Amino acid sequence: MNLATPYLGLSLRNPFVVGASPFCDDVSVARQLQDAGAAALIMRSLFEEHLDPAGSHALARASTTEGADELTAFAPYQVFPARYLRQLGHLKSTVTIPVIASLNGRDPGGYWPEFALQLEGAGADAIELNFYRVVTDPAIAADHIETEMLRTVGNLTSTVRIPVSVKLSPFHASVAQLAVALELEGAAGISVFDRFYQPDINIDDIAAQTQLRLSDSTELLLRLRWLAILSPLLSCSLAATGGVQTSADTIKALLTGAHAVEVVSVLIRHGPSVLGTLRQGLENWMREHNFSEIDQFRGMLDLARCPDPEAFERANYIRVLHSWKA
Ligand SMILES: Cc1cc2nc3c(=O)[nH]c(=O)nc-3n(C[C@H](O)[C@H](O)[C@H](O)COP(=O)(O)O)c2cc1C
Repeated sequence: MNLATPYLGLSLRNPFVVGASPFCDDVSVARQLQDAGAAALIMRSLFEEHLDPAGSHALARASTTEGADELTAFAPYQVFPARYLRQLGHLKSTVTIPVIASLNGRDPGGYWPEFALQLEGAGADAIELNFYRVVTDPAIAADHIETEMLRTVGNLTSTVRIPVSVKLSPFHASVAQLAVALELEGAAGISVFDRFYQPDINIDDIAAQTQLRLSDSTELLLRLRWLAILSPLLSCSLAATGGVQTSADTIKALLTGAHAVEVVSVLIRHGPSVLGTLRQGLENWMREHNFSEIDQFRGMLDLARCPDPEAFERANYIRVLHSWKA
């Protein structure tokens, strides 16, 4: 059984990529993940605010105390550029699978290209960009934000030789148009989608409450829809991130066009050994369906053969609403 899959121009031994998270803070954990079957590792993000001293101060002013029981294992970890590069070096000398760096910013301007060069120099196999941003200023128009994103991606892809991918938010008016434009700017891959960590309201304290909730498989459905739409439109790599908990979830992502799945929550819940379970489930399913390679079924359920995907989506929407009878 051949589980190899191309991703960002890299050849991965299987589609299971450890998503951006604190797992790579410890090289022994990174090695365990590799030994358990991870095909690539994405380091936690280096935040724009840590590259820009003014941003660091703004962050300190705006931050509040927060925590999530489930995640106490991940102690606060201030990431600074020099430390990030050192950790990347440690990882590269410890594991043989690709190590992907992650940059996270809302409007990183001139900060990213220079640091991206340093990441490349330190051996990063690729860089994933996360433009996490909740735009609250009514004076900022959508096209301004997307134009800046595209400019930033274009700058980076013309600065470094390693592949650059974008972890996209689902909250764009035309995700398809943006994804195509990102590819034109040189993005080697799109990760579908970033998760947004919404604050809840604590009604006893009458206060907003931030917490990091792990995902479940229901979050995958939004990803599957968009993988199916984007897969025929793009030549670059696609990854599903958000909600992949089982081998069935992985198979669904591959069927809708993903080259890889980025997993975090399932690893936090079950530890590295779950990668063996996921891989075994994928192999079993492929055997049952007489597939010997992922390429034989990748994208089988994307919308390539659908003459009008928008009409198809709308028809499905109406059908679902009509399926319930009083
Ligand atoms: C503890 C934790 C830390 C994370 N840190 C980052 C990060 O630094 N940068 C980033 O882009 N995503 C980060 N993520 C998001 C994950 O990379 C991933 O996209 C998300 O968890 C969805 O995958 P999942 O459903 O398998 O959890 C983090 C997630 C968790 C749970």
